[in-house]
Amino acid sequence: MGFQFETVPLIINESGAATRLAEVISSRFKCKRVALITDAGVVAAGLVKPVEAALRNAGLNPVVFDGVEPDPSEQIVLEAASFAKANGADCIIGLGGGSSMDTAKMVSVLCCSLQPLHALYGIGKVEGKRLQLIQVPTTAGTGSEVTPIAILTREDHSKMGIVSSQLYADVAVLDPELTLRLPPEVTAETGVDAMVHAIEAFTSKHKKNPISDALAREALRQLWFNIRSAYADGQDIAARSGMLLGAMLAGQAFANSPVAAVHALAYPIGGMFHVPHGLSNALVLPHVLRFNLPEAEALYAQLATVLLPSLSGTDGQKAKAFIQTMENLCFELGIPDRLEQVGIEAGDLPGLAKAAMQQTRLLGNNPRPVTYDDALAIYREAL
Ligand SMILES: NC(=O)c1ccc[n+]([C@@H]2O[C@H](COP(=O)([O-])OP(=O)(O)OC[C@H]3O[C@@H](n4cnc5c(N)ncnc54)[C@H](O)[C@@H]3O)[C@@H](O)[C@H]2O)c1
Ligand SMILES: [Fe+2]
Repeated sequence: MGFQFETVPLIINESGAATRLAEVISSRFKCKRVALITDAGVVAAGLVKPVEAALRNAGLNPVVFDGVEPDPSEQIVLEAASFAKANGADCIIGLGGGSSMDTAKMVSVLCCSLQPLHALYGIGKVEGKRLQLIQVPTTAGTGSEVTPIAILTREDHSKMGIVSSQLYADVAVLDPELTLRLPPEVTAETGVDAMVHAIEAFTSKHKKNPISDALAREALRQLWFNIRSAYADGQDIAARSGMLLGAMLAGQAFANSPVAAVHALAYPIGGMFHVPHGLSNALVLPHVLRFNLPEAEALYAQLATVLLPSLSGTDGQKAKAFIQTMENLCFELGIPDRLEQVGIEAGDLPGLAKAAMQQTRLLGNNPRPVTYDDALAIYREAL
């Protein structure tokens, strides 16, 4: 079957690379003023100052917008874009987790565009060019540094995606030193988000292809073999590097073979209850996998042998072992496993199911069709 595969043209994977961004910029672009897009948590972790100082020393006149919030709202994106425009920025650097990188993508577009933000939702709606864009992740999770996707939270608390080729960055920089102080809880939850990207890309219904499959398998392997070490000892730079690599490979996979029902059911939890994205995914993960089992058994069996290479048995046994292994991992990493633990009650479930059904862009990729009743049943199991 024919397929297309697209990714970011330059990926730099090197310890300390974040303080050498000026070299990358000078050798590739003609930029005079760089806007760093980040959030207060990344500033508090001490990650922004050294990057800013190195850019200043290289004459790139950096300005810093640190007002990004988790699950960025349209308003934050517009504020960040006004800030970059007012400062005459000609190069945008996203420095942070998915929230900062997604905001940076939209800033790079909005600085060049007359299109209103609301016209950009959906697939392929962005017209024209953007400013130069460099993405530097400080979590090992979303893979946003290599995806053409920005997820924004709208006024009605729905989380919606803008997906356009222009959102692929010019450069993605993986510097494990930036993730050494990521708290264990964030390490666990963002790491599971990355694992979900690999799993959903591998079972995606329409655009799954040999390249995304290879990337998803290797992503899952890197993440599985490093997540417990990174969680137990944040300073383990080899584990941190493996996590960043795994999250990026998963990002490349799902940028081309998109995620599905786990994300569709997770987004309303994040949008309506402000539950972090990785945790939202983890809460519904085993229930969606079990729901998908009749259609995805053979693929889950293949993924089981990535985690447990010597596993034997039928596809059915392997697929069940895969789901159980993911559930055990989340437990081992101390991730809550009930919706009630994040303040969601039985009465909230119909609203969540209704909102999940709006995620048609994602649900269409799921190996098994999901109805409103199915979504409600999955949330009930997760309660
Ligand atoms: N664009 C995509 O392809 C894509 C894919 C999946 C998810 N997302 C979106 O990304 C967002 C989630 O991103 P995320 O999970 O990376 O979290 P995040 O960017 O919201 O950050 C979570 C928290 O971690 C803190 N933090 C980040 N790096 C840190 C570090 N190194 N040390 C200490 N604290 C640090 C931040 O300050 C913040 O408080 C959601 O909005 C989600 O919808 C986007
Ligand atoms: Fe995700």
